[in-house]
Amino acid sequence: MTLKKVAIIYNDDMDMMLGKEHNIASWEGVIDTAKAVKTILKSEGISTTLIPLRDDVEGFVKTLKTENADVVFNLCEGAMGKSAFEMNVAALLELFRFRFTGSGALTLGVALHKARAKAILAYYGIPTAKFFVISDLNSQLSTLGSQLSFPLIVKPVCEDASIGIDKDAVVKNMASLKKRVDYVIKNYKQPAIIEEYINGREFNIAVMGNHRPKTLPVSEIDFSQLSENNPKICTYEAKWVTDSPIYLKTPPVCPADISEELAQELCGIALKAYSVLGCRDYARVDMRMGEDGIPKLLEVNPNPDISPDAGFARSAAADGLGYSQLILEIVMMAHNRYQI
Ligand SMILES: Nc1ncnc2c1ncn2[C@@H]1O[C@H](COP(=O)(O)OP(=O)(O)O)[C@@H](O)[C@H]1O
Ligand SMILES: [Mg+2]
Repeated sequence: MTLKKVAIIYNDDMDMMLGKEHNIASWEGVIDTAKAVKTILKSEGISTTLIPLRDDVEGFVKTLKTENADVVFNLCEGAMGKSAFEMNVAALLELFRFRFTGSGALTLGVALHKARAKAILAYYGIPTAKFFVISDLNSQLSTLGSQLSFPLIVKPVCEDASIGIDKDAVVKNMASLKKRVDYVIKNYKQPAIIEEYINGREFNIAVMGNHRPKTLPVSEIDFSQLSENNPKICTYEAKWVTDSPIYLKTPPVCPADISEELAQELCGIALKAYSVLGCRDYARVDMRMGEDGIPKLLEVNPNPDISPDAGFARSAAADGLGYSQLILEIVMMAHNRYQI
């Protein structure tokens, strides 16, 4: 069956975001990606329709059914302003038997919950930073001291795109830890995950494919231009606020300047993590090198940002895969999938 029509779904509900006002930037990018995907598919003679998701879920499903496209290109990163609903969008598509790009609901849900994902990855022998999840500041912090050692990093347990991560996320003592945990729970309305801080180089590994997934050239974030009073991490500002000094001082380098041996080690871990979490079509795995020389997996991102200027497209380009080809490969993987 030839691919005739693609429905591109994406979020259009920036006014519903939690946390800081500027947390909008990461969701805004999705609209540009949707338009970029549309242009590419159109130029291939494929008919497209853009379907934004706001709070009217029934209307959204109705439109999808009416459009009756061969493939749904899923760019939704959540729903109703909540990242945790990313899996629910995929679950809807599964229930209504749409063929769609990217990972299924279970993978999206597990990967977004950083603690669940780490527990599963650890079970399969993939090294990650030691961690602790806390939902109640008063009752749970007392047991922490014996389990983790400072410095630590505090993150919302179910977010993405560095939401909730700024330079105060890295803490060096109990007083700042308590303050930060309180900040995360109150502002992001969810538990906080506290992790040991991995003080080492940071790598992103893009993975594509299904039966025999492949890795694209490893990318590294260069933190060397950051001053001493900035922790060497990808804060929200570093990822999204394109005119900020922090953004400009944390450039990605792809391919990373690393030995063939290290590249193979990182890619091996990324492929294992991709398969353990059941990723489909494309995903990005984030890692940092531990001081013990063992790479530690930070997180797996199924359905990562695939805007033309994001890391995934950069890695694809470094492998000779142009942006249009990348988008077409993703859509064809979904098109060729057996119906769920
Ligand atoms: N345990 C850690 N040690 C050091 N840096 C970390 C750690 N966890 C996260 N970071 C930093 O914070 C950034 C965002 O964290 P990550 O877990 O990837 O969440 P997100 O889903 O928001 O991208 C990472 O890219 C990294 O720079
Ligand atoms: Mg990340």
